Amino acid sequence: MKILAVDTSADDTTASVVSGMRVLSHMEASQIDLHSKWGGIFPTIAKRAHQEKIDYVVKMALKKAHISHFNDIDAFAVTYGPGLAIALEVGIKYIKELAVKYNKPIVPVNHMEGHLISSFVKNKSGNPAVTPNFPVLGLLVSGGHTELVYWKDYLEYEILGETLDDACGEALDKASKMLGFSYPGGPVIESLARQVKNVDKFVFPRPMSKTKSLDFSFSGLKTALLYKIKTMSEKERIQNQAYLSSSFQEAVFKSILKKTKQAIEMTGVKELAIGGGVSVNERLRYLLRNLATEKKIKVYFPPLKYLNFDNASMIGVVASLRFEKGLFINSKDSLDRVARLSLNDSSVKNV
Ligand code: KG4
Ligand code: ZN
Repeated sequence: MKILAVDTSADDTTASVVSGMRVLSHMEASQIDLHSKWGGIFPTIAKRAHQEKIDYVVKMALKKAHISHFNDIDAFAVTYGPGLAIALEVGIKYIKELAVKYNKPIVPVNHMEGHLISSFVKNKSGNPAVTPNFPVLGLLVSGGHTELVYWKDYLEYEILGETLDDACGEALDKASKMLGFSYPGGPVIESLARQVKNVDKFVFPRPMSKTKSLDFSFSGLKTALLYKIKTMSEKERIQNQAYLSSSFQEAVFKSILKKTKQAIEMTGVKELAIGGGVSVNERLRYLLRNLATEKKIKVYFPPLKYLNFDNASMIGVVASLRFEKGLFINSKDSLDRVARLSLNDSSVKNV
């Protein structure tokens, strides 16, 4: 059973061929160079770049999987939300045309289901040989989302908390921009913070720390950074840019840590799975590993670097699980993008 999956939800055009939980090939075309000067993703540029690259990326994914014809694919999978509407449309249109042409089923996948499963995605040989022991607490930290998810079983989700404003990756991206650096900001902030050993010199406020709610909020933190920068001369700001980055990153991560701890205590889960672009961050990984040790639970991170970020492998693996349960549509059925699709809407349900 082979599935060809594509994801065009943001600024990466990606395609993969998977067989069950195993990835047979992965291919991507990054658009970072096109967006970095804008400080974020520029929607029409993203759409055009997806249109230009998708055919090449898909054909390379097939080639790498040693598949010579689309007829050898059993089903096509595509991310239909959440994400940038005009970017999602490119992947959906492409997959629909293929599915109609070759008369194969389509498995529509929620992008966040993909990030959630990414710690359990396996290579061709089936490694890492780990499987989740449900219920698992999912922590999704990306450029568009910050969510705590009660993951009851494969394809069964309940959001426990989410951001009320900016996502954590978005907050890091905005902080980087305020300090005069490029997009994406997460890696810039991480390396500056590392230079000063992650010291918390400015102790920015810890958002939502006094509430029982498992929701997050990062926009106030951004304002706190802006005010701090305004009190500084240009020279002081440059001298302090590593300390500002480090303090900002600590405030974001300590807030994530606090809510994750609350969620572990509330649910009694014994496993924690992290996903999304920010999960590649070594400081966050260190803090979450410590939390897991303290709480005597297991923690999982995406096993390969590319699996932290947007990729079609995670979409294909979810699609395999959905296909097994009959959660697919006919190639002639209508399928539309849902830019604000929630995980709650995707729990063991067809579109
Ligand atoms: O999952 P992802 O590739 O795309 C979305 O679905 O949003 O995540 C992108 C986010 C960006 O905000 C980026 O700044 C952040 O992941 N990111 C990082 C790091 N590398 C990328 N955040 C913290 N530390 C990093 N090293
Ligand atoms: Zn993502």
